[in-house]
Amino acid sequence: MSTSRKQTLGVCYYPEHWPEERWAIDAGMMVEAGITHIRIGEFAWSRIEPEPGHYDWGWLDRAIETLAAHDLGVVLGTPTATPPKWLVDSMPDMLAVGADGKTRGFGSRRHYCFSHEGYRRACARIVTDLAKRYGRHPALVAWQTDNEYGCHDTVESYSKAALDGFRDWLAQKYQSPDALNRAWGNVFWSMEYRSFDEVELPNLTVTEANPAHAMDFQRYSSDQVVAFNRLQTEIIRAHSPEVPIAHNFMGRFVAFDHYAVSRDLDIATWDSYPIGFLDRDTDDEENKRRYLGVGDPDNQAFHHDLYRACGQIRNGEAEGRWWVMEQQPGPVNWAPWNPAPFPGAVRLWAWEAFAAGAEVLSYFRWRQPSFAQEQMHEALLLPNGEPNEAYEACGRISRELDRIGAVAQPERAEIALVFDYESAWAWKIQPQGRDFDYLDLVMRFYRALRQGGVSVDIVPPQPQAVSGRKLVLLPGLFAGSDALVDALAASGAAILLGPRTGSKTADFSIADGLPPGPFRRLFDMKVRRVESLPPFVDVPLQGGGRFDGWREFLVTGADVETRRVSADSHAAHVAKGRVHYLGGRPDAETARVIVGELLREAGLEPRELHRDIRIRDNGDMRYVFNYGPETVDVLNLVDTGSVLFGETQLAPRGVLAIRKT
Ligand code: GAL
Repeated sequence: MSTSRKQTLGVCYYPEHWPEERWAIDAGMMVEAGITHIRIGEFAWSRIEPEPGHYDWGWLDRAIETLAAHDLGVVLGTPTATPPKWLVDSMPDMLAVGADGKTRGFGSRRHYCFSHEGYRRACARIVTDLAKRYGRHPALVAWQTDNEYGCHDTVESYSKAALDGFRDWLAQKYQSPDALNRAWGNVFWSMEYRSFDEVELPNLTVTEANPAHAMDFQRYSSDQVVAFNRLQTEIIRAHSPEVPIAHNFMGRFVAFDHYAVSRDLDIATWDSYPIGFLDRDTDDEENKRRYLGVGDPDNQAFHHDLYRACGQIRNGEAEGRWWVMEQQPGPVNWAPWNPAPFPGAVRLWAWEAFAAGAEVLSYFRWRQPSFAQEQMHEALLLPNGEPNEAYEACGRISRELDRIGAVAQPERAEIALVFDYESAWAWKIQPQGRDFDYLDLVMRFYRALRQGGVSVDIVPPQPQAVSGRKLVLLPGLFAGSDALVDALAASGAAILLGPRTGSKTADFSIADGLPPGPFRRLFDMKVRRVESLPPFVDVPLQGGGRFDGWREFLVTGADVETRRVSADSHAAHVAKGRVHYLGGRPDAETARVIVGELLREAGLEPRELHRDIRIRDNGDMRYVFNYGPETVDVLNLVDTGSVLFGETQLAPRGVLAIRKT
């Protein structure tokens, strides 16, 4: 049995931005709105250490005491995303270098190179001093390491520190230059190296670098994020052993392996900006208009499920912990356009997160600043300190949370959708068609599943994550391992492979014996050709449906059945028993039809949900959401339960909470 926890609200607070006399008023207003968790400190290095080696703890002590006096829990951020100017000036080579070879400057944030040893030492020092001072403070409920690793495109740095680090990393991985040359295929274009010191970073090449080179650099860069985070978590655990450690990940961001970072975290959290993301979530103008002020109906849920998986890495499935560390409260300042939330959207977002098991939903931020970069970013309070709309919503949400009581994490789903960071890097390095994007491909299947009203676990490509499921989907998985193939074969689950699944070796060559490489052990088929297609053509399928942007030409053995054929008479979807291979990228409707067939084959009955309606089952609770502009009758979704709050004539952006009986 997993632990039940009462879910709650939080907020990101910057006491250093406001006069000290205001702090107690703010704390009182937080309590009144039902907010219990306050994140502070993550950008405050220049106030904590105004001069090298001279700390000013006074203000932070008093800020924490003010919050503690109101029984508020403190989430303390390490300030390493914003190294102060004096530190940068003391070692200018700590600045990251862009792929264009230009040094990234001081004057905003995240201006550091993960590989720089001097910067790591400076971080170790401030994190140690912070953890020693506050690590056992009774008000401390969690730590946050740094802030949004990788934000503003900062995972890769093309600095001297990165070059030195990369050469060492390669030497450890390959042991000899010959082994590296073989693995990368460097006989091609005379790229062979005689020593690791001859290897450069994969930027500034005349045309594309060797994909194997680019892939190893991405792996190296990801490993530096892991190491940088681990440096902090080890220090924090030594001085603050009782307090869980979190990091706030981002949406639609895949440049480092979040599963690997999560191995060192107790709580995975992410920053959810549904309206800000909409522009990236869909190209469909009709959907953009329909969901302008509420965001894509599946994007948040996808990330909730993804970060729930991250939260399970250290603690195990039943004890996985995850939060939303930053939730959009109003218009933001950074998207191409920044519309206001539609009425009800703020509450809907909160319930979408709680329904998926978030322990804490924390707003960014408490009060809108009248100064600096984010002065146009709304907050719970207006710049003058009066309540804004989202503040008013908090009171209602916290009363509703009281009605729900403690809940456990969602149970293990019967369906697993594999999501793999290396695959995201591989298809970014070698898209082969301009718009081939791994996250987009996986999202197509996620949307189809969610529109079928079923519960899904997003999982890493690991044997234990896929075993015991009824349906496993692995679209676009770059390379497969024998262990994963064995686990799939033993699972008896319905399995969907393709497009591009198993098409490469881990060294970034075409899979032995043709794609899908090791998955060919599951059935006798192979991919002999792939083609990518521009947006103005697609591949219609006989009997309905279509592929867009990508299709493959499949060769099958006698015992493999062809389930779908393209209009030009090529096998498009083949299967043997419950193992399927899809030779193309399905559009939304086609994905829905195929996922529906797979669900039925796996003995799971998909629902036919209205286009704007989504549901989430969690323990004895069911939640129903209306993302659309019209009232929808959802009485049929109540089944045998009783309504805790909300209406069965579900209003636009309405939420219905049902306790199943
Ligand atoms: C996040 C970041 C916050 C703030 C916010 C604005 O990416 O962590 O510090 O900048 O965006 O929406």
